[in-house]
Amino acid sequence: MKIPEKKFSITTPIYYVNDVPHIGHAYTTIAADVIARYKRLDGYKVFFLTGTDEHGQKVLQAARDLGIEPQEHVDQLHNRFKELWTRFNISNDDFIRTTEKRHQTLVSDILQQLYDRKEIYKDSYEGWYCTPDERFWTEKDLVNGNCPECKRKVEKIQEHNYFFKMGQYQDWLKKHIKSNDKFIQPTSRRNEVLGFLEKPLGDLCISRPKERLPWGIPLPFDEGYVTYVWFDALINYISAHGPLEKIGSTGFWPVNHHLLGKDILTTHAVYWSTMLKAIGFDPALNLFAHGWWTINGHKMSKSVGNTVEPNLLVDQFGVDAIRYFLLREVPFGLDGDFSHKALIGRINSDLANNLGNLLNRTMSMIKRYHDQIIPEPNSRDEDDDLKNEFQMGTEAVQKLYDDLAYNKILERIWLLVDATNKYIDTNSPWNLIKTESGKQRLATVMYNTAECIRSISILIYPFMPKSAETMMEQLGIETSIDEQGLESLKTWGGTKSGIKIRPGLQLFPRIDDKDAEKILNSIESPNDKDQKPSSHTEIEGICDQVLIDDFMKIDLRTGKIIEAEKIKKSKKLLKLKVDIGTEVRQVVAGIAECYEPDQLINRTIILVANLKPVKLMGVESQGMLLAANNNGQVVLAGFDPTPRQGTRVR
Ligand code: MSP
Repeated sequence: MKIPEKKFSITTPIYYVNDVPHIGHAYTTIAADVIARYKRLDGYKVFFLTGTDEHGQKVLQAARDLGIEPQEHVDQLHNRFKELWTRFNISNDDFIRTTEKRHQTLVSDILQQLYDRKEIYKDSYEGWYCTPDERFWTEKDLVNGNCPECKRKVEKIQEHNYFFKMGQYQDWLKKHIKSNDKFIQPTSRRNEVLGFLEKPLGDLCISRPKERLPWGIPLPFDEGYVTYVWFDALINYISAHGPLEKIGSTGFWPVNHHLLGKDILTTHAVYWSTMLKAIGFDPALNLFAHGWWTINGHKMSKSVGNTVEPNLLVDQFGVDAIRYFLLREVPFGLDGDFSHKALIGRINSDLANNLGNLLNRTMSMIKRYHDQIIPEPNSRDEDDDLKNEFQMGTEAVQKLYDDLAYNKILERIWLLVDATNKYIDTNSPWNLIKTESGKQRLATVMYNTAECIRSISILIYPFMPKSAETMMEQLGIETSIDEQGLESLKTWGGTKSGIKIRPGLQLFPRIDDKDAEKILNSIESPNDKDQKPSSHTEIEGICDQVLIDDFMKIDLRTGKIIEAEKIKKSKKLLKLKVDIGTEVRQVVAGIAECYEPDQLINRTIILVANLKPVKLMGVESQGMLLAANNNGQVVLAGFDPTPRQGTRVR
């Protein structure tokens, strides 16, 4: 019997070509690449799609500003994205452009079908239009008379347009979201969409008069109009698969993950899902809305002029260091302030000291003690603890992929790096070499260390493909990582004895303090100039007033303390594990003088959940507890009665 092929599909948003790519665009694309590579390692046939969004007002305006034809502009800019993805080692299977014939034809076909089925109708319309966002808003949507999304000015427009009957799918969509936990992640974003759907859902204006916007796909049933850029762009996810009749049989639909930034969740969760319903396709299995990279708390964007140029970063730090940093530093789903200082910190500690050093020392020991040949282990039955650690670690990593918990995956892999370094230290090969019986054990230790490195390189491959390949090369293993696959981690001993290692250059050279200072001085980023550790000050008077929007940026959550322990050498600090419903956070709190650890277990507290993690006494703290300082006595804020964990506090 033929075993059916396992198939998996993943997409990024298609990026506007109104300007060159920045690190925010690279973030989504790298995140998708990691999953695509991981699934291939797991034996799946993967379809990984990215592309460029080339129509609409923004793109037309950008071309006009340059004084060139829009087609010439998009041809130039889409290449900038393609080139950047090559630099970042992105393994996309296709790249779709909305100006391609295959896409335009499918958009036209879909429009005609929906029009024929009376899912699209013409009406006169008056509304407030936000040109940068290319969206209509009603009077009640506006915030202080401005666009509720980008806060910029809107203009009143009255015209005839075509509408897609989106409103009729509101109940279906609500039910679909409620009965599919993982359809929208993270949960906080899912709740936002459900909140949005509590208000009546109107129909969607899907056309723009040609005289106002000539740059778009013409409506097949009315020459005077072009297609609204979002209706056009969302269809890219299926137009890459060919004509409508073919899509169902590709095995790649529904898409497993649409990755996107939180700014475009509504368009995907609401517009795209209802469009698919009308066309007769199932919605994607998962929409994951990640957070933004910010600079001093502001979204990085070309229009604000605060972007980080990805090519410069790659020139300075190398591709894999950037891939690693972006996914390790901030939990996928939360915002993160970009800092070169933090990047250098990660390179030096995680990459150079931990991983790079492990490879180097292993290479030099195999060279010195075994003449550059991976030895045959003297016993295959020893070191069960190490083997179990790898077994459990690999299983844990595989589970974490289900929730796209990139930072935790890397954290878990680095526990294996630490375990291997510790295994070397505990066994001290430099002592074993001194005696005959020691030499017997040495062969086993060096073999196992090589096998650990092989396993680690397979596990880091989705994140750092080039470095993983270099590690394999240095181990002298010629079988490609894809061919070895995750399967080869199921049993210990995939490394062959008797092969010759090829020690090479240091994988991640340390950036010394002088160089780091030079780099930081040459960088304009305000975060690096005045980066201070997060702190809070006790203020007696009332602080300056803030707007409600600013207050709402602070994500306060209820959490239950499930573990508490003192931090060695600190009088004030306790290390806590706090369950906030969607995840367990490690929090360091300065409450040791007022609370005993045991007293805290099962207590419900309020956590600032979107505070940038900091290290206190070398321990990472992923949030801050709310408490009052009552004449030197710290009192934790709490509730009566107690709400469930993860409830938002306002
Ligand atoms: N063209 C639309 C998407 C259509 S998808 C059918 C669009 N393009 S965009 O170029 O403006 O942004 C696309 C995506 O880039 C965002 O959703 C997000 O994934 C990513 N990012 C852009 N700026 C970002 C940050 N500052 N930080 C993180 N990601 C960001 O919207």
